[in-house]
Amino acid sequence: MNRKQQWERDGYLVLDGFNSDLACNQLMSRAMELANGCDLREHPSIFQTANQSKTTDDYFLNSGDNISFFFEKEAFDEHEGLRQSLFHSLNKIGHAMHDVDPLFNDFTRSPQMKALAAELGLAEQVIIQSMFIFKHAKIGGVVDVHQDSTFLYTEPHSCVGFWFALEDATIENGCMWAKPGGHQTALRSWFKRSEQGGTEMEILDESPWDMEGMIPLEVKKGACIVLHGALPHFSKPNTSGRSRQAYAIHTIDPKAHYPETNWLVRDMNTLRPV
Ligand code: FE2
Repeated sequence: MNRKQQWERDGYLVLDGFNSDLACNQLMSRAMELANGCDLREHPSIFQTANQSKTTDDYFLNSGDNISFFFEKEAFDEHEGLRQSLFHSLNKIGHAMHDVDPLFNDFTRSPQMKALAAELGLAEQVIIQSMFIFKHAKIGGVVDVHQDSTFLYTEPHSCVGFWFALEDATIENGCMWAKPGGHQTALRSWFKRSEQGGTEMEILDESPWDMEGMIPLEVKKGACIVLHGALPHFSKPNTSGRSRQAYAIHTIDPKAHYPETNWLVRDMNTLRPV
């Protein structure tokens, strides 16, 4: 069985040694530089306003074409101050580093990525978002079971994710979990802009998650995991003393319909492949 067949059968594909240690280190350094450039005084999670939830929603909803910063839920104390350094309080950076930052662009559109996309029949897919995930030691939070097509909804469904381990991902530091063949299931929900402002989750199918057979995808630094948009997956909190930094991009089929009510808004004409 070749890798394309394996990908189609399992709904995911683990590729060890996909990126060099050097490339991983450079991306982590760049993320740290970006994080240190985040102006806390203007950040809506920090700069409290009378209409806090609207300001925070707006910041999230406007992050599709730029570099924005998102904090861990546990980052703040009761006075809304950070418990630890800015860097160690961050959950992720998103959602357009791959188009805005040259180093992220190079990592995202590497020769091995172009070859992989071609091999899996995904060369036509365009990149709609990128995320740098810190999953810091002790504070890195849970990611509940979900399908990526919920957040990058197209008709027909076309989301495919590429997740890159920048450090070893283990059960202890909160690696990803999924089930082989788990993508053969209905899309449960659609995360979208709500008419009243903010966001909402539209339920498409009420079937409960089938968690039986979920296995930990423990991988070494440098690995790439390709994820089908319908594959339910999750990760546990990082209770270890080591961070689990990762970078992920998501792609869609440019010929599929991308509803205007999707939370993430991009000028569709500017999207490019890997
Ligand atoms: Fe995901």
